[in-house]
Amino acid sequence: MPDMEQVAVRARGLVKNYGSTRALGGVDLDIPTGQVLGLLGPNGAGKTTVVRILTTLLRPDSGEASVAGHDVLTEPDAVRASIGVSGQYAAVDENLTGFENLYMIGRLYGLPKRQAKQRSHELLRRFQLAEAADRATKGYSGGMRRRLDLAGALVAEPRVVVLDEPTTGLDPRGRLDMWAVIEQLVATGATVLLTTQYLEEADRLADSIVVIDKGMVIARGTAEELKSRIGGERLELVLDDIDDVTSAVQVLEEVGISEPTVEEPIRKVTVFVDTGAKALVEALRKLDAQHIAIQDVALRRPTLDDVFLALTGRATATDEEATP
Ligand SMILES: Nc1ncnc2c1ncn2[C@@H]1O[C@H](COP(=O)(O)OP(=O)(O)O)[C@@H](O)[C@H]1O
Ligand SMILES: [Mg+2]
Repeated sequence: MPDMEQVAVRARGLVKNYGSTRALGGVDLDIPTGQVLGLLGPNGAGKTTVVRILTTLLRPDSGEASVAGHDVLTEPDAVRASIGVSGQYAAVDENLTGFENLYMIGRLYGLPKRQAKQRSHELLRRFQLAEAADRATKGYSGGMRRRLDLAGALVAEPRVVVLDEPTTGLDPRGRLDMWAVIEQLVATGATVLLTTQYLEEADRLADSIVVIDKGMVIARGTAEELKSRIGGERLELVLDDIDDVTSAVQVLEEVGISEPTVEEPIRKVTVFVDTGAKALVEALRKLDAQHIAIQDVALRRPTLDDVFLALTGRATATDEEATP
């Protein structure tokens, strides 16, 4: 079946309830072979539940899923053999060195000693851990642990790699290092499911994005498609005087197509506009007429953050609008 060759991960109608909590309300997703899917959603959205179903750790109440052509319910062993998982809670043995951790995993997967050794060294180099290879992982930083955990998921050369919030809790430096490592992994042609709460991360690493909230898919597409869904640009004003905020909000309500938002500490007022520079000029004219002084003004393309705010802020209305 050519379909299975092209789609490495496929899920249809996944539903999961924990008692009276609906964790998933019918999630569909496809990951073409060799691509990265970003599963984007806030805490509690259902990301880990999707991961646990795809990795055979949890049975869905209904729906079906396959990984590398194997059904998660009827062929769990084949699924586990084709998947590598790395998570938010790094599964690293504290008392072993970095090398020992990987070597042990290699042996558990049945690699001969020499191959397990070779593979461990290769991964340690690739993940910038070669120098720390012989130190106990107790002394590793959070970022180093995450990288080692990811290396562990790759020892058996899985066809599909699942990364559940790989950078949550890392400092900016650790996050950048992790991104570099994930980009290398992607360059090797791996199929990746990456869950994240960070729009910037999905924007940078994912070929396509599925946005979930409260167990429901609220949007899907490439980062560019999602951004263009918002339509228009964002107009940002920084006021001289925070006392002008009410009047400035009123002006932006008149020229914009969304509810203006205010960031008080930086005296910034923002609105979406669909007429670009024309809206900007109109806003400036109205502000001037009311003697509202501004320090800075900008017209920007929407970011994925804007997309997410717009989607979750008026998710129901958006769904209704999208349904003819
Ligand atoms: N073992 C569990 N028992 C009860 N509720 C759970 C359990 N695991 C997850 N949940 C609930 O299911 C929902 C989705 O959780 P989860 O998939 O962990 O979300 P995410 O990974 O996106 O943060 C949340 O409301 C969470 O509280
Ligand atoms: Mg989670």
